[in-house]
Parts: sequence; C-alpha cells; structure tokens
Amino acid sequence: MHVHRFERLWLVGALTLIVLFVGTVTYGAVGAGYGMVDDTGGEVDPTNAIASENFREPGVYDRSEAGRYDVYVEAKQFMFVPGTSTPVRVPANSTVTFHVTSTDVMHGFEVVGTNINTMAVPGQVATVTVEFDEPAQYGLVCNEYCGSGHHTMEGSLEVVPHGQFNESEVN
Ligand code: CUA
Repeated sequence: MHVHRFERLWLVGALTLIVLFVGTVTYGAVGAGYGMVDDTGGEVDPTNAIASENFREPGVYDRSEAGRYDVYVEAKQFMFVPGTSTPVRVPANSTVTFHVTSTDVMHGFEVVGTNINTMAVPGQVATVTVEFDEPAQYGLVCNEYCGSGHHTMEGSLEVVPHGQFNESEVN
C-alpha cells in the first residue's frame, strides 16, 4: 500500500501529539509531586480533631530539630486557625510542615504565590512540607467552595527574619 509522503507526515505528527498529551497528563498526575490527600497525615475525628493523636491544638510547634517547625491549621467556615484572626508566623530559613484538617466541610488551603495548595478534608490530615528561605508575606485562601462565606475565607502567613521571631510564639 502506498501512503503519500504528506499523509505519513500528518500521521507521525498526530501520533507524536497524542504521545505528548498522554505524557504531560501522566507527568502531572504522578510525576510532579501532586497527590490526593491520603492517610499519611493520619485520620482524626472531625468533631474533636485536637483530641486525636494525629492533630494538635492549632498553632506553630518547634520540632526541636534546628529550623524545623510544624504548623497545625484548622480550616472551618469561614476561617483558618491560625491564619485568619492572627497570621501564621514562622521564621525564615526554616522547614515547615503544615498539618491541615477541616472540622466541618471540605476547604482548600493555598499559600498564594507558592506551590503549597491542598484540600482540607474533614477526618483527614493533609501534610505539606515547605522550605522558607527569605522573609515574606503570603496570603492564604480557601479554593474549595465551602458555603456562603467561601469568598471571604482568607488569612495570612508571615515569614519573618530570625531576629524578629519570638520563640515564645511556638508551642
Ligand atoms: Cu473554605 Cu471555601
């Protein structure tokens, strides 16, 4: 069977595009560090999260390893605790693990301008670990529709110079 040269070119081009598209989707799903909120952060009772061994009173905790902190964040209609009424404060040059859960409905926890973005699922603790090198101010937003106040659900995160970080701020 004779296939015309241009037809062969189109066939090869179309097949290449299909392989590229499937490749980018596969990379986005498994290769780029994205994942579903799974059970690595542990499960909690959403009606009493702080009583669970996988969660704590919301706030910043010193992990007693140099420069490592844990931040426990409770998302609820329509605020982050901490984050909304008081900013989350962590020092620069630190590695911070956020443990985020919801105590009512599904919320989102996004640190604007970074790649920190997770869902806050009732009963599950989402964990994300980030390095903050420079002092900076970030906004926090909820990006899962969670009710009539969803658009008002926001907060802030302050990465402060080490000298301005008061160790009494941590638990
Ligand atoms: Cu919380 Cu939208």
